[in-house]
Amino acid sequence: MKATLLDGKTLARQIRQEVAAEVAELVRQGVTPHLSVVIVGDDPASRIYVGSKGKACKKTGIASNTIQLPETTSQKELLEIVGNLNADESVHGILVQLPLPSGIDSDAVVCAIDPSKDVDGFTPENIGKLLLGTPYTVACTPAGIVELLDRNAVPVEGADVVIVGRSNIVGKPLAAILMQKTAGRNCTVTVCHSRTKDIARYTRSADIVVAALGKPCFLKTDMVKPGSVIVDVGINRVEDPSTPKGYRLVGDADFEALSDIASFITPVPGGVGPLTVAMLLKNTVKVARLAKCGQ
Ligand code: GUN
Repeated sequence: MKATLLDGKTLARQIRQEVAAEVAELVRQGVTPHLSVVIVGDDPASRIYVGSKGKACKKTGIASNTIQLPETTSQKELLEIVGNLNADESVHGILVQLPLPSGIDSDAVVCAIDPSKDVDGFTPENIGKLLLGTPYTVACTPAGIVELLDRNAVPVEGADVVIVGRSNIVGKPLAAILMQKTAGRNCTVTVCHSRTKDIARYTRSADIVVAALGKPCFLKTDMVKPGSVIVDVGINRVEDPSTPKGYRLVGDADFEALSDIASFITPVPGGVGPLTVAMLLKNTVKVARLAKCGQ
């Protein structure tokens, strides 16, 4: 059996077109959605992600600005900047790129973001709303994963899902989405993590496995059930002297081998990654529309 590829790149393009049409409508009504992105330090991967977020905004008609702060920025300074963005009525959405430098308490910074401008869905209020089944904004990577599954008619309703990775960015919010008592969800979700005694024991019984732990090629064929759905959230750089850059990107799953036994699989790159940005645009338009007219 050769797995069907879940093509995130093409779907992200389609979603961006849908969002662009919504932006054009909002602009006609006198509102240009505006996203402010804050990045602290020089982490190369974060810089690339933030750059692609800014470019995607521009292509979609969303106004965006990036506040680039030095590694030495204090927590107090960062909280002040977030406070100013909260108070600025021309800013609809705020995103503070994670991870933050080690001296800064990320939770304190995320908590400081006005929940109504929280395009990441990371604030306690928005995580709480998601858990209660009344979501406002939903974290972009998990939202992108379910969009990718739904729009490819992957059977999700009632599935046994195993998520490997318990991060606030992916694992926890994805578990909350999939366990909702609502049509197309109703999944039985197991979250495995670094202290799970035997991860393969869980992944082997899953209909859908989500690998989001940040370990290159962690998920192998002997860890999954034939015919299962593999969602790979990992983006890892591995050395490869045969490439011009000296490295290549691989996911958390052994893509080549798993493609022969899975029913559906996401590639890396071009799977989940592009959808994170597309869902950010969607969230930005949502918060801008709600700021304008409460609908
Ligand atoms: N770092 C990795 N993914 C994300 C994300 O979705 N949002 C933010 N703010 N930081 C991230």
